[in-house]
Parts: sequence; C-alpha cells; structure tokens
Amino acid sequence: MNDKFVVKGLNGKKTLSGKIRVNGAKNAVLKLMASTILFEDKVELLDIPEIEDVKRMLEILEDLGVKIERKEKGHFVIDTSKAKETVLNREISEMMRASIVLTGPILSRFGEVTFPIPGGCVIGARAIDFFIDGFKKMGASVNFDKGAYIIKAKGKKLRGAEIFLKTPSVTATETFIMAGVLANGKTVIKNSALEPEIKNLADYLISCGAKIKGAGTSRIEITGGNLLKSKGKKYKAMPDRVETGSFLVLGALCADNLEITNCNPDDVEILLEILKDSGVLLEVKKNSILIKNNGKIKNKEFKSVNIKTKEYPGFPTDLQAPMVVFLTQASGEALVFETIFEGRLNYTEDLKRMGADILMLDPHRVLVKGPAVLRGRKVESPDLRAGLAFIIAGILAKGESIIDNVYLIDRGYENIEERLRKIGVDIERFS
Ligand code: EPZ
Repeated sequence: MNDKFVVKGLNGKKTLSGKIRVNGAKNAVLKLMASTILFEDKVELLDIPEIEDVKRMLEILEDLGVKIERKEKGHFVIDTSKAKETVLNREISEMMRASIVLTGPILSRFGEVTFPIPGGCVIGARAIDFFIDGFKKMGASVNFDKGAYIIKAKGKKLRGAEIFLKTPSVTATETFIMAGVLANGKTVIKNSALEPEIKNLADYLISCGAKIKGAGTSRIEITGGNLLKSKGKKYKAMPDRVETGSFLVLGALCADNLEITNCNPDDVEILLEILKDSGVLLEVKKNSILIKNNGKIKNKEFKSVNIKTKEYPGFPTDLQAPMVVFLTQASGEALVFETIFEGRLNYTEDLKRMGADILMLDPHRVLVKGPAVLRGRKVESPDLRAGLAFIIAGILAKGESIIDNVYLIDRGYENIEERLRKIGVDIERFS
C-alpha cells in the first residue's frame, strides 16, 4: 500500500509530447454512486475512474447491502433495491470525506443514518456542522454516541426545509439535494455551491424523475417525491477538471507539444485565462486543449500572477498546489491566498526543500518568487492534489525525486504513472 514513485527529472527541458486523456471526475462520480440509494431500479455508471476512493465508496455501498456488478473497466451497475442497512462502515468512512454525502440519500430513503466523523485529506478542519444543522431543520433528531452520529427523521420521513449554508460547501449542497429528493415537500438550499459536479449530479437525477431547480446557481429548490427510476438511462462521468488543470500546468512547464483530450475547457476557464495571461500558448477546442511548440519558450518567460482560491467559478483550491509549482518557474513574485482550507499550503515546505523560493506569510498565504531551479528530493504527499503537484515538480527538476505515500495519489488519479509514461515521463512505482 505504501508505494513510492521515482521520477527522473527533465532538468527544465520541455520534451514531453503526445496525448493525455482526462478521466472521469472523482468528485462527481463519488456523489453519483451515493445517489444510487435514491433509486428503485439499477443504475449504470460509465467512465468511472477505478481510483482508490471509488473502490472505498463501492465497499461502503456493498456493506450497506447494495449489489454491485462490474461489467467492464469503468462500467458498473449498482442495484440498491435490497439495501436496508443504515450504518456507514466506520473504518472506511473515516478514511474518506466523500462518505458524508451518503447521509443525505440514506436518511431520506430509510429515515435514519449512523455515521462517524468523516476523515479525508489533511487539508484543514473540514467541519460537518452544516450537515447536522441542515438535518435538524429537516426535522431529524441528532445524537452522538461512541464516536458516531445517529440521525433519525421524525416519522422516518424528512421534511423539506430552508437551509442557508454559511459557506457554499460542495458536499453539503450535494447532500441536501439528495436529502430533498425523497423528503416531504420543498427543500431550498441558499448560498449553495456552484461547482459543475453539483449540476452534473442534479442533471442525472432530474433525468430520472427528481424535481430539482437551480443547480449550478446559489439557490436550489428540490421538491420531494418518490424513489427515482433510471429505466436503463446510463450515467457517463464528466471529465475531471482537476486532472485537466494539472495536465495543463504539466504541459506548460514540461511539454513541447501536448494534447489534453476528453476535457471540458469551460470547467477550467479561470486557469486557462491565468495561464494565457502569463504567456502560455494554448489552443482551446471543444473537448481538448493543445499546447503547441512550447519547447522554445523558456519557463522564465512566463509572468507571475497572484492567485486567490475561491468557490467555482473562482480559482479551485484543488488546483492551488499545481499552480504554485507553475509559479516557482514564472518570473516575478506571486501572492497565493488559499481561502478555503487552512492546512492546504503545508506541502510548500517540501517544494522549498526542492529549491523553490516560497515564503509562508501565514497558514493561508504564501509568496512565491520565480524562476527557481528545482532539484530532485524525497518528498511525501500530504494530500492527493499536492501529490500530483510533487510529481510535476519532480518531472521539472534536476535529478531524481522520490515521492512517498503514493496511496494518496492513487485515491484520485488512476494509473497516473502509466499515463505519464506515454507522454515521455520517466516514472517508476516501487512497493
Ligand atoms: C469538496 O470538499 C471536495 N471534496 C474537495 O476536494 C474540494 O477541495 C472542496 O470541495 C472545495 O472545492 C469532495 O467533493 C468529496 P466544502 P468539501 O464543504 O465538500 C467549510 C479533493 O482533493 N465547511 O466545500 O469537503 C469547510 O471547512 C478534495 O478532491 C464548514 O465549515 O469542502 C471549508 O472551509 C479535497 N462546515 C468550506 O466550508 C461544514 O459542515 C468548503 O468546504 C462543511 C464545510
């Protein structure tokens, strides 16, 4: 489980080339999988990345009595018709924040749910107060006993409520959409998150009978009804915008020619604007992005840009770490302000050991000065996104880098080493 990657750096040469395909979006498919609890018939899911988090979600579902059939790679059929269990597997849920989205559909369908405080990447406090408060508003009682929350809907049925999120939380928005689908009456989520994965979830649920209005805006209205029916309608995963963005940074820094395929450029518009402003030449097509003849442009010709992470459509916190790697190479000084998670800049210590000029101002802000020559080092990824950023830094660097704790990278990126090798990266996995 504790694999390592060994990456041989290109020492600043831009030699990568070819095509890299973006996989289905982790943060969309995990929610779709949870939503299958709302269905009376089977749900077929396509283009599902077989990453560790997906495997864990499948295990939790199986533990709840859900039947899962893997038809072929990335193609699953999920049948929740026999599910009755309402207690989330503790060990797995504690490993993964996304497990919390199951509470919405389980509570909505069965009238009760028991779950531990969810874990996940160590990037900040990651509270769950919005969930607890929202369920109370929907008429549920909340008890905490032996490290688990026990939530029960009055009369086994949630009732619609108005829920105002103090911060537009992605998982809370998704959870209350799903809770509202089988609740009595109307649920309104105010100050809801706008991330494209939310609309993607809502669109599929709507196509199967759910009454949801406003997904993708800051006010979502759900009118409760009966169990949903897929009637054979398949869900195909949307492309992962974090992979898209990370590959863009990799391409800009290390590739001569790179085509990023199966992506949705609109979902990474802010990154495209920023990279273009800093001098990266990009050709944006409908479902692909091209980086062409980039080999002659020296990274130091790229201009630094200040970054402030924000909810969608602002700069995604999940792309903050790859962007910092980009900024270590661009000319000038950039202020990076991580507004969402207070622990999400800690990885910059390791980048500094690789030679980056980064000054931490406080847990939310760093100053990055470029260009700096990076040297291969042994680093350990604290979360999956920083893990991929280390891989990018390793590819760019002079010498060899060892990236420890690869499990975290495997949580979100399927077979990343094989996909990178295809475009010319020298990367090996060691167990
Ligand atoms: C989702 O996390 C993603 N995870 C994260 O992806 C992503 O970084 C994040 O949204 C922001 O885009 C999944 O979709 C599974 P939040 P989530 O609730 O929903 C505060 C990745 O690498 N908050 O939107 O957990 C919270 O502390 C990851 O794939 C409360 O205060 O994030 C944070 O400051 C990591 N109380 C802010 O809201 C609550 O009850 C936004 O968090 C809930 C959240």
